[in-house]
Amino acid sequence: MNDNDGHFGERVAEQYDKSSAAEFRHDTVEQTVSVLAELAGGGRALELGIGTGRIALPLARRGVPVHGIELSRAMVQRMRAKPGGEEIGVSIGDFATVKVDTTADGPFSLAFLVFNTIMNLTSQEAQVACFRNVAEHLAPDGRFVIEVLVPELRKIPAGQNIVPFRTGPTEWAYTVYNTVTQEAACHYVEVTEDGRGATRTIPFRYVWPAELDLMAQLAGLRLCNRWDSWTRTPFTEDSAQHVSVWAKPTG
Ligand SMILES: C[S@@+](CC[C@H](N)C(=O)[O-])C[C@H]1O[C@@H](n2cnc3c(N)ncnc32)[C@H](O)[C@@H]1O
Repeated sequence: MNDNDGHFGERVAEQYDKSSAAEFRHDTVEQTVSVLAELAGGGRALELGIGTGRIALPLARRGVPVHGIELSRAMVQRMRAKPGGEEIGVSIGDFATVKVDTTADGPFSLAFLVFNTIMNLTSQEAQVACFRNVAEHLAPDGRFVIEVLVPELRKIPAGQNIVPFRTGPTEWAYTVYNTVTQEAACHYVEVTEDGRGATRTIPFRYVWPAELDLMAQLAGLRLCNRWDSWTRTPFTEDSAQHVSVWAKPTG
C-alpha cells in the first residue's frame, strides 16, 4: 500500500466498487450524472476526489470533458482499468490545494464533490481552502456542487459521543463524535474467518449546510440551489442529506 493514498489505499480501492450502497445503483448514478451534465452547460467539469470514476466515467460518456483531482493512486488505478478510464486526466494531490493547469483548455464550468467527500477534509481551515481552490478553477458563472449528509447529531444520545451504525456477530462499526471541533471518526471492526481481526478508521469533519454557505461566501460564491437529493426535491428540515449548488459571479 502507498502511504500517500490517504484512507483509500489498495485495500479499500479493491473493495470500493463492490459496495451495495445506494450510491452505486445504476438509477442513482444516472440521476446524478443527468444533473451534473446539465449544470456543466456544455463546458468542462472538475471532480474533486474522482475515486474509481463512479460518476466521472458516465459523465464523460455523455460528452462532458472531465478532469479529476485525487489523493489515492490505488483508486485512480481502478478507474484506469475501466473503459474510457485512460482518457480522463487526473491531478494527483489534495483537492484543497492542488492547482490544475487550465492554460490550454480554459477554466471549468462545473466543479463537484459528491458522496460526502467534503467531510474527508478534517479541519474547517481545509474545507474553506477547498472552496477557495474551486473558485479559482471556475469560469465566471461556473457552478460548484456538493452532495453531503446533514450532520447526524440527533442520533447522539444525551451524555454520549458514540453512535453505532453496523452491528453483527463478526462485524461492527461506530462513529465517535467531538461536538466541539466537529471532528469525528468512523471505526470499522471485523473478525475474520481465522478468528483474527481487522480494523479501519476513517476520520472526517461534519459540516452544516449554513457553514458551507459561509465558506462559499468567503470564496466569492453564492448559493443557487439546495435540494434534498439528485431528484431536485426541495431541502427541508427533515432532509438527511443535501445537494447544494453555488455559482461564481459573472463579472
Ligand atoms: C467516498 S470516495 C468518492 C469517490 C468518487 N467521487 C465517488 O463518488 O465514487 C472519496 C474519494 O476522495 C478521495 N479524497 C479524499 N480526500 C481527498 C483529498 N483531500 N484530496 C484528494 N482526494 C481526496 C479519496 O481518496 C477517495 O477516492
